[in-house]
Amino acid sequence: MKDFKELYDRGKNRGGRGDLYSKVALDHFKYPRNVGVIEDADAYARVGDSSCGDFLEIYLKLKLQEIDPEKSIITDVKFRVFGCPGAIVTSSIATELVKGNDVAFALSLSDDDVIEALGGLPEGKEHCSLMAISAIRVAISDIAKKD
Ligand code: FES
Repeated sequence: MKDFKELYDRGKNRGGRGDLYSKVALDHFKYPRNVGVIEDADAYARVGDSSCGDFLEIYLKLKLQEIDPEKSIITDVKFRVFGCPGAIVTSSIATELVKGNDVAFALSLSDDDVIEALGGLPEGKEHCSLMAISAIRVAISDIAKKD
């Protein structure tokens, strides 16, 4: 299982301040992780932000644990986003946070966790992190519907 604290610590104090993107965020913008589609995904969600028109699609592949579904492991995750730099970097790091971890961990993540893992976001861009967290939660609820 991936160590969330290590990812979290990696993002802390990496230069995010005021109106600037942190080094971690810039790296995720230049090299977004987990971009793409999973054709045989176990869960899918598409969410949008009506205030700006951006939207995000997320695909999850799981090693399902039928007795305790929250212990199912997210073995792969991909995303496609139509959105601002904030939407790209928050989607990218959110997929890194959940990949290899279980569903319970993914559900425990908040938008603040995503922002912290990036080492902050410029003022006014914090709301962009909501889309990634919302997409993960909607996708997980999609698993429940398939039972
Ligand atoms: S401005 Fe729409 S998600 Fe960033």
